[in-house]
Amino acid sequence: MDPLSEIERLRTRVRHHEHCYYVLDAPEITDAEFDRLLKALETLEAAHPDLVAPDSPTQRVGGAPADGFVSVEHAAPMLSLDNAYTEDELRAFDARVRRGLGMADDAPLLTYVAELKIDGLSLALTYEDGRLVRGVTRGDGIRGEDVTSNVRVIRAIPLRLREDQRRKPQDESREPGAGSRIEIRGEAYLSRQAFDRVNREREETEEPLFANPRNAAAGTMRTLDPKAVSRRGLSAFFYQVVVPDGAGPLDATHAATLERIAAWGLPVEPHWERCEGIDGLFDACRRWATARRDLAFDTDGVVIKLDDLALRAKLGTTAKFPRWAIAFKFPAEQAATVLREIRVNVGRTGAVTPYAVLEPVLLSGSTISMATLHNEQEVARRDVRDGDTVIIEKGGDVIPKVVGPVLEKRPPGSTPWVMPTACPFCDSVLSKPEEEVVWRCENASCPARLRRSLEHFASRRAMNIEGLGESLTGQLLESGLVKDFADLYALSVDQLAGLERMGRKSGAKLAAEIERSKTNEVWRLLHALGIRHIGEGSAQALARHFGSIPRLQEASAGAIEQVPDVGPVVARAVRSFLDEPHNQALMARLAARGVRMVDDAAPTGPEAPQIFAGQTFVITGTLPSMSREDATALITRLGGKVSGSVSRKTSYLVAGADAGSKLQKAQELAVPILDEPALRALAGDL
Ligand code: IVH
Repeated sequence: MDPLSEIERLRTRVRHHEHCYYVLDAPEITDAEFDRLLKALETLEAAHPDLVAPDSPTQRVGGAPADGFVSVEHAAPMLSLDNAYTEDELRAFDARVRRGLGMADDAPLLTYVAELKIDGLSLALTYEDGRLVRGVTRGDGIRGEDVTSNVRVIRAIPLRLREDQRRKPQDESREPGAGSRIEIRGEAYLSRQAFDRVNREREETEEPLFANPRNAAAGTMRTLDPKAVSRRGLSAFFYQVVVPDGAGPLDATHAATLERIAAWGLPVEPHWERCEGIDGLFDACRRWATARRDLAFDTDGVVIKLDDLALRAKLGTTAKFPRWAIAFKFPAEQAATVLREIRVNVGRTGAVTPYAVLEPVLLSGSTISMATLHNEQEVARRDVRDGDTVIIEKGGDVIPKVVGPVLEKRPPGSTPWVMPTACPFCDSVLSKPEEEVVWRCENASCPARLRRSLEHFASRRAMNIEGLGESLTGQLLESGLVKDFADLYALSVDQLAGLERMGRKSGAKLAAEIERSKTNEVWRLLHALGIRHIGEGSAQALARHFGSIPRLQEASAGAIEQVPDVGPVVARAVRSFLDEPHNQALMARLAARGVRMVDDAAPTGPEAPQIFAGQTFVITGTLPSMSREDATALITRLGGKVSGSVSRKTSYLVAGADAGSKLQKAQELAVPILDEPALRALAGDL
């Protein structure tokens, strides 16, 4: 088969499986099979760069806009929705609609569609000739921001519309495949699962947590790095088609529009229902007020829309809202309970957070006995005190929050809460830089910190010491056998076997696991140390760049900042960790106990798939973040060969800045040329 046909065949299959997985939520193949398919397409396209098309599923991540997002005007304003909170308000809406249409009291009932109101951010997509050309946020409704580079990485959004099977011949001229331009509007959102993952990662790197999936989705859409956006896993649902000026609607009803959008391959929230008369929708509104808890995404109401598009056009809009739709908003769920006490918690990296211990109370189907109070300022702002009766709320936010005290019920003689000056776990004096709001316990050996930091050190994504979980780390600390990470590497089999629920066999097994962890790649240690702002990704970037802990220790904050994905805040955090004398002693002790500090011998064998087997690479010029040695190690680790000169047999030339004659020769011989990001992408090292 010629390369173009093979590429097209692979693209069709990848698109089909993306649609099954991301839109229909019904995958037909395993993730690994899908990855293999995508990889095969990437490899083939890398070998035939001239055949790469912008709507290929490999082309989701492209360049980011260098100077931020460009503001663009919407073809038609993106309106907001009027709200209703009661059934009476919904009846009043129906009456307004009927009056607006000049309907008599005894005229037949109107047909409405009820859809879930997705709690995300609105998005307008433009497809030209069926290809995605633009994605714009709502902004102020008149102008939004062009976020095309981020929209392209949302895998539920097709880069190319599917054939509409329901197409009628007379529609042909207006179909997306036939020289048309069409705008499709909807809501981008982050699923609850993706939101939890994002916040867990942010907790690990001590970045401020997102309060709810909506904020996380909006924050993500504003991110300037499409790769980071891609990792977050945004999704979207669509519900509106805007046709160019002068053209009539493609369909007669809203229900048909939703079906058309789905036939184009875009995700449509499947729980929409059509109903005669407004009364028939009360049940849906009531049902979703509780059933929404079981959905995979947040919804804050039900949107009720007139089904007949010709009647909609007759009603028109106000400056802000369409007259043909209304959002029934669910009430925020609140409860009153007694705040027994305000306590503080100390996190893995020393952050001290106040929280409320509550009389347990049932709210939105779960028993709540604690609520976060965020920080000292937040407690002062709300003036909540021990013994207060407080209102707690679970609105859009996942963690219940304290709305405020019920002042009439405040016990006499209560006093405002004061932040402790010493750590309740180790008595060290708490500190807080002037410009920050968070107090910290700086004692790296504080038991409150060590407990969690040791669990993190041993965890799967850090040193990956299997069997060293919460219960054993607790015992090791309580028995005094471990006072810092380096002590782990001095434990004997006897000591481990002597712990509760351990025996000789499990002791020996754990000792072997600890021993094995000494040979981990350097990024694992960097991640395991619990340096502020250092997650798995930045640890890998640092290890890739410096190759060893001693080289990192010698680097200035400025040099650390040069590493891709590492900004000044992260660089400062790394520097201040490495400069702290206790930490320097710790690193020396870890090295003395044989923990690997240098990524010299890169792993080979089964863990590194030999995807470059049989391929020859030539490296020339200066690569932005990799040394020649790094690039050679990466290629050879994956089974490729590195040669010094370009010939017809060369598979790829890897070219950096100031590449000279080798680049020229590769161009003459039509050898594919890769820059550093392309090499990393080909290696699956994104
Ligand atoms: S229809 C002109 N339908 O809610 C009609 N909006 O509060 C425009 N939203 O700006 C909106 N789910 O971002 C509609 N099923 C849905 C929706 C929905 C979420 C958002 C949308 C809109 C906001 C208004």
